[in-house]
Amino acid sequence: MRILLTGTSGQLGHALLSHLPATAIVHAPQRAELDLSNATQLRQCITDFKPDLIINPAAYTAVDLAESEAEKAHAINAIAPAIMAEEARKLGAGLIHYSTDYVFSGDKSDAEGNWQAYTEADATGPLNVYGKTKLAGEQAIVASGCQHLILRTSWVYSNFGKNFFLTMLKLARERDQLRVVNDQWGTPNSADWLAAATCEILAQLQQPQDAAAWWQQFGGVYHFSASGKTNWFAFATAIIELADQQNKLGKAAPQISGIPASEYPVPARRPHNSLLSTEKLQAAFGLSIPDWRSTLDACMQSVQAAASAPLNSTTQAQGQAK
Ligand SMILES: NC(=O)c1ccc[n+]([C@@H]2O[C@H](COP(=O)([O-])OP(=O)(O)OC[C@H]3O[C@@H](n4cnc5c(N)ncnc54)[C@H](OP(=O)(O)O)[C@@H]3O)[C@@H](O)[C@H]2O)c1
Repeated sequence: MRILLTGTSGQLGHALLSHLPATAIVHAPQRAELDLSNATQLRQCITDFKPDLIINPAAYTAVDLAESEAEKAHAINAIAPAIMAEEARKLGAGLIHYSTDYVFSGDKSDAEGNWQAYTEADATGPLNVYGKTKLAGEQAIVASGCQHLILRTSWVYSNFGKNFFLTMLKLARERDQLRVVNDQWGTPNSADWLAAATCEILAQLQQPQDAAAWWQQFGGVYHFSASGKTNWFAFATAIIELADQQNKLGKAAPQISGIPASEYPVPARRPHNSLLSTEKLQAAFGLSIPDWRSTLDACMQSVQAAASAPLNSTTQAQGQAK
C-alpha cells in the first residue's frame, strides 16, 4: 500500500510514522517539500506519488493565533483537506483525516447539568476560528464523495512536540506553584495510542479483497478517544504526581491550584465540555479503548529523568489545548 503521510514533525504524524506497517511504501514530505497552504504543490505531490491512502494529521493547530490568522488556518485546515479529498476521489484512494472536539460548542449536558459526551450525530457549533476551519475541512471531505475516515480526537499529548504534557513537566521542573484551568472537561489522548489505534483500523482495511466495499461499510466520521474524563487541572496533577513518583522532576513537586477559565484570558474561546462518545468507533472496529490514565503512564515511562534530558516544550502559564 502506498501511503502519503503529512505532518510528521507534529505529535501525531511523528507517532504514525513509527507505527505504520513496514510493508507500506510511505512518502512523508516535510513542510519544505510540501507546504499544505500551496494548493498547486499539494495537487502535484498527490498526482506524482499516486497514493492508495492519504493520512493527514497535519493541521494549523495554534488555536489562539488562528483568531488573527484565520485565512492561513483556513488554507491548511479546510482547503488542503478539500484538495486531498478531491485528488483521492480521482485516484480511487482513501483519506484518513483527523479532526477535533473543537467542532462542538461544549455545552452538552443532561437535565441536572452534568456534561454529556458528544456523539457523531450531535450538531456542531465551533466557538473559535480553529474549530470553524477544522469543521470546514470535515465538510469538504464529506462533500467530495471520496472514501474517507474523519477521526475526531481531543487533548493530544506526547513526549514529542509542543503539548500540555511537556509544558506541565517543564513548568513543574522550574516552578514551585502552578495555576491550571479546572472548568474545562475532556479526555487526554496520547499520540502514541492514537497512532497505534489508527494502524489497527488500517490492518482491518487491508484484510478484505474489496477495499471499496470496506470504505462503503466503514467510511465516515468517528469520535476517536481514550475513555474517562478529567479537567486540565486534574490532568496536570496526574502528570506531575506520576513524574514525581518516577523521580522525573529533579526537585520537589510544585503546588498546583485550580482556576476557572475566566481567570486565564486567551484570544480563542474554548468549550467547557470536550467529551467524545466512542460507541460508534468501538462498534465498527472493535477497538479496545484504554483509560486515559494508562496511556499517560505509558507516555511518562518514555520521559527521561530531569537532569539527563531538557524538555523542548514552550513555556505557558496555564495550559489549554486544541
Ligand atoms: N493537539 C491537540 O490537542 C489536538 C486536539 C484535537 C484534535 N487535534 C487534531 O489532531 C491532528 C494532529 O494534531 P497534532 O497535535 O499532532 O498537531 P501538531 O503537533 O501541531 O502538528 C501539526 C503538523 O502539521 C504541520 N503543518 C502545519 N502547517 C503546515 C503547512 N502549511 N504545510 C505542511 N505542514 C504543515 C506541522 O508542520 P511544522 O512542524 O512544519 O509546523 C506539523 O507537522 C490535527 O488534525 C489536529 O487538528 C489535535
